[in-house]
Amino acid sequence: MNILLIGSGAREHALAWKMDQSALVDVVHSAPGNPGLNQVGPCFDVAADDIDGLEKLTLQIEPDLVVVGPEVPLALGLSDRLRARGFDVFGPSAEAARLESSKGFSKDAMEKYGVPTARFGRFSDITLAKAFLDTMQAPFVLKADGLAAGKGVVIAQTREEADAEAEAMLSGKFGAASNELVIEEFMTGEEASIFVMTDGEGALYLPAAQDHKCVGEGDTGPNTGGMGAYAPAPIVDEATLARVKAEIVEPMLKGMAADGMPYQGVLYVGIMVTDDGPKVVEFNARFGDPECQVLMAGLTGDIVPALLICATGGLKGNEEAFGALMDLEGFQPAATVILANEGYPGSYAKGAVIKGVEEAGAVEGVDVFHAGTDVDDTGALIATGGRVLAVTATGVDLDQAFGRAYKAVDLVDWPSGFCRRDIGWRVRKT
Ligand code: AMP
Ligand code: GLY
Repeated sequence: MNILLIGSGAREHALAWKMDQSALVDVVHSAPGNPGLNQVGPCFDVAADDIDGLEKLTLQIEPDLVVVGPEVPLALGLSDRLRARGFDVFGPSAEAARLESSKGFSKDAMEKYGVPTARFGRFSDITLAKAFLDTMQAPFVLKADGLAAGKGVVIAQTREEADAEAEAMLSGKFGAASNELVIEEFMTGEEASIFVMTDGEGALYLPAAQDHKCVGEGDTGPNTGGMGAYAPAPIVDEATLARVKAEIVEPMLKGMAADGMPYQGVLYVGIMVTDDGPKVVEFNARFGDPECQVLMAGLTGDIVPALLICATGGLKGNEEAFGALMDLEGFQPAATVILANEGYPGSYAKGAVIKGVEEAGAVEGVDVFHAGTDVDDTGALIATGGRVLAVTATGVDLDQAFGRAYKAVDLVDWPSGFCRRDIGWRVRKT
């Protein structure tokens, strides 16, 4: 079968690399792709937010399955359009993807379906927002309603900061994405990411992962898209996972289906493990990046049958069989360390040459997934993005996986690149 994958990050490179290992797959096409994806299959120069262009490309390629990596095409309705054309698509409808593209919608849905999350209010009026802040205590959590490329959440330590941030957001700090804002209670605990592959009814749970969002070691500095990850994350023990299933995922899937917007694709459940049990921090409508890299690296079986059944329906009651094809039981501990461009998440230079990627990839258990890379006129690999490479390793345990990942990181010759040296600090013994 032929697959068309939408996206250009290390998440998509890892997905393509994994799907390409399936005996069912002949070719994985990507749009727009990157130099790493180009080693897996042909790339087409159509941007992930150009849904007219992507629809045309799909009609040309006639793939047996379309897999949508990032959130923007989902929010723009790519899955709906392609399904209307008769294609099988792994990725939710625009309506269901509002669980990510509107924080207010997502919080209302959780409230309606009785799913545990932080107490909240939705505001488009500054006076009402301030009146609600009067009822809360520091720290204050403010979120732009719409997609803001991961920058739309502010934790304000003081009331003055919270007022200033609310004013800035409602006066267009994030454009239309902050015409409305969500203010919510601050939750304390450890975070984890849980990924559920679903056709809207059945649910396949991948091993829990943990991301590292802050740019600096010791979880300091500004938030990024994610600087590293590992799985499995022991914070999500069996009892916690059972509560996530019963109190969060099952009511969400049931509620969304009952309200005429069945959720199909991967549901990313960002949780806080609090003293009162797991609570939802956020939902996303896609795989996490860099969590996806560790999940793809750690899975030893075939993920393609599961992607297909989620796209076509029929998972419910057959979860065990599809989990066995993926070999969920045989999941290998995996770690990923992001090499980022000096200056990220602020501004950074483009065009520095990166060497040593092959040597890094030759370390036992290691694969290097590309994000913001390109190839220049001389054929040299160059850095063009903020997050540039995801150095990913498996091992018999997480210590071995991290040891391999950092050994490979040290073989990459790119003076203006940096990484966090403490990824996995909660679980590493060495
Ligand atoms: P989000 O984009 O909603 O995941 O928010 C980004 C980050 O902000 C999360 O990963 C958390 O670390 C933090 N955060 C968001 N909401 C809350 C909350 N209600 N309480 C504590 N931390 C939060
Ligand atoms: N790793 C966080 C995200 O993908 O949103």
